Amino acid sequence: MALDSVTLLRVGIIITHRCTLRCKLCGSYSPYYNPKPHFTKEQIITTIDKFFSVVDHVGDISFSGGEPLLHHDLPIFLERARKYSSKYDRLLVLTNGTMLPDDLLLNEMKKCGEKFQVNISNYGNDKSIYCDNLKNILAENQIKYREISYSGDKLFCDGWVDLRRHVQKYFTEDEIKNHAQMCLKQTGGQCFIITGGEMHNCARSYRRTYLGLIPKNPDEFVDFYDTSKSIEELRNIVKKMISKGFTTSCAYCDGVLPDSKRYVPAEQLPANFSGQEEDTFE
Ligand SMILES: C[S@@+](CC[C@H](N)C(=O)[O-])C[C@H]1O[C@@H](n2cnc3c(N)ncnc32)[C@H](O)[C@@H]1O
Ligand code: SF4
Repeated sequence: MALDSVTLLRVGIIITHRCTLRCKLCGSYSPYYNPKPHFTKEQIITTIDKFFSVVDHVGDISFSGGEPLLHHDLPIFLERARKYSSKYDRLLVLTNGTMLPDDLLLNEMKKCGEKFQVNISNYGNDKSIYCDNLKNILAENQIKYREISYSGDKLFCDGWVDLRRHVQKYFTEDEIKNHAQMCLKQTGGQCFIITGGEMHNCARSYRRTYLGLIPKNPDEFVDFYDTSKSIEELRNIVKKMISKGFTTSCAYCDGVLPDSKRYVPAEQLPANFSGQEEDTFE
């Protein structure tokens, strides 16, 4: 890899905020977007192409959401991502065990080969109702999967954290940086997300700019739909994001720390939830 290459550890592309569940503490804030962005085929294909023209290599690239199996064009996105298989170590789909793939999707998954994996969040058999069926189907088709236990006695990472509070707790650059480094350590390192063409350090950074709580600092995200910037300019922004390792958002974030309170995953919001409330600012 060339010295000035742009290499990322993990990236999640949110292809829809529509979901079959309404988890109160959803890390993507999907229940809280109203209306829920559901990106078009053209938008996601542009995202994939532009991403791989800016980034030389990524460890894990995931299609996430919301619930990605709700997006009918997921087979097309897998096919497109496969074109860049020399530029990633693993291609993943993150799903909640509430849906089964049709033959078209299964076929595309199979074609993705050894580098492909489905991560199934198992929220218990009252919610992830097709988890066992999904595992059987994937096994029959020799598609790799990993079941992540989010119910019962043994919870992955001891449970979920609540990331809905947006109150500034860190003020100096050192404080913010230390906090961000602890959070990264606890979460397994850098995991950028792309939503609506914008790549941010995490879903919280996107959420806080979306809410207008923090300004959109041009050094803290890249917009893959911005045709006014050259690939080189976009690469330079990504390099800055990598080397800085934190954003303004981290100052306003409880983060994921060793002593963060853990919650039972996937507690559901009421069926009539409008998606308007819940972020807290004090
Ligand atoms: C936002 S979900 C989207 C994919 C799919 N809908 C699912 O639930 O697996 C992506 C991953 O984030 C995890 N997650 C969501 N909210 C979380 C939280 N508050 N704390 C920790 N992990 C969370 C989920 O369990 C899942 O593994
Ligand atoms: S299943 Fe829950 S965590 Fe996953 S996207 Fe839907 S609401 Fe969020």
